[in-house]
Amino acid sequence: MSVKTKVAIIGAGPSGLLLGQLLHKQGIENVVLERVTPDYVLGRIRAGVLETGFARLMREAGIGDRMDTEGEVHDGVEIVVNDRRHRIDLKGLTGGNTVIVYGQTELTRDLMEARTRSKQRTYYEVSNVQPQDALTNKPYVTFEHDGARHRLDCDYIAGCDGFHGVSRKSIPDDCITEHEKLYPGGWLGLLSETPPVNPELVYIKHARGFALCSLRSQTRSRYYLQVGKDDVVEAWSDERFWDELKRRLPEELSAKLVTGPSIEKSIAPMRSFVAEPMQYGNLFLLGDAAHIVPPTGAKGLNTAGGDVHVLYKILSLVYGEGRTDLLEKYSDICLRRVWNGQRFSWWMSNMLHDFKDTSAFELNLHTSDIEYHLQSDAGRKVIAEQYVGLPFEKIE
Ligand code: APR
Ligand code: PHB
Repeated sequence: MSVKTKVAIIGAGPSGLLLGQLLHKQGIENVVLERVTPDYVLGRIRAGVLETGFARLMREAGIGDRMDTEGEVHDGVEIVVNDRRHRIDLKGLTGGNTVIVYGQTELTRDLMEARTRSKQRTYYEVSNVQPQDALTNKPYVTFEHDGARHRLDCDYIAGCDGFHGVSRKSIPDDCITEHEKLYPGGWLGLLSETPPVNPELVYIKHARGFALCSLRSQTRSRYYLQVGKDDVVEAWSDERFWDELKRRLPEELSAKLVTGPSIEKSIAPMRSFVAEPMQYGNLFLLGDAAHIVPPTGAKGLNTAGGDVHVLYKILSLVYGEGRTDLLEKYSDICLRRVWNGQRFSWWMSNMLHDFKDTSAFELNLHTSDIEYHLQSDAGRKVIAEQYVGLPFEKIE
């Protein structure tokens, strides 16, 4: 069967769905193709810290209501080094900017509901998706659905299909450069129906390994422990997790920690990755399809939001004012913000984790570096500005 649209979007994660909704609001028809079921997409537990700019984009897409009522505005975060708690006053240090704590599962649910309301077409459980003829002005995507082969003709293809997706892989090797850094460790996350140990997030540098106290609401907590590269979830009973977390918390937090059965437990690898350029003719890469950050700065979803903003603005100007000159600027504009997010995530990761492959000399430098930043007004301001996120570049 042959279908036609303006923008073919591969992947129904946050990038694909948010782009689809923003384009829909501009009257730009689009089709989303997703490999798995909606429930499978919603089952993935990921970070839940939204930068000021991302939250604004959700509102611009007309889907900010639940985020604004159920999400928690956080004016600050804490960083613990040598058992000393330091508060970063995000709001005070950035002239009023904050972050919103709102789980990615809830955000994706809002995006899915908006998609249903928009009546734009979505095909779930598709297979053999393949972008075709991206260098021509008649690109198309082939895929299989319900046992039948389909062809989706379009003007542009948006590759929002995550790190393991087909979009980036469809670009010839000599037209794309991949940069990658793997860290010798991962994050073991545990979600529980317990009140968070602290009303704000707490990032902890500790000799036994990094830990993070995060939350989804005042009744649901998300905690993380740095674990070894080859560690497996099965080796971590809930009891072992809570015991280890207590050891890494400063005493006053450890005494307050409320434990309970886990709802979910999983290990996330720590990887920095950038593919450039983020474009191949009329195929554009967005979000995890083009870049990955270690979770330490909560920049994954937020960096993806930056790409969505750029492509949505460019396509609005292409369809609205014939500004096809902007298309070739997509990758350069995105990459400026992407590399900034990479740098901050890499820095936060190195400052707060004692990785096994790091020399004692460098570990001492890291401790000195983070302590300087925490003790100086200027240093705290740098962290705050990066944590709430840099503004989106204006596209005109
Ligand atoms: N065909 C169709 N869909 C695919 C294919 C394929 N070949 N391969 C992957 N997908 C789908 C995945 O099933 C997934 O639902 O693409 C989607 C990609 O979603 P994410 O991995 O969430 O990536 P993205 O939307 O860019 O998210 C950016 O949110 O999920 C987090 O870690 C992510 O923080 C990052 C941010
Ligand atoms: C989370 O709540 O899952 C979370 C928060 C902040 C991070 C990473 C993960 O830096």
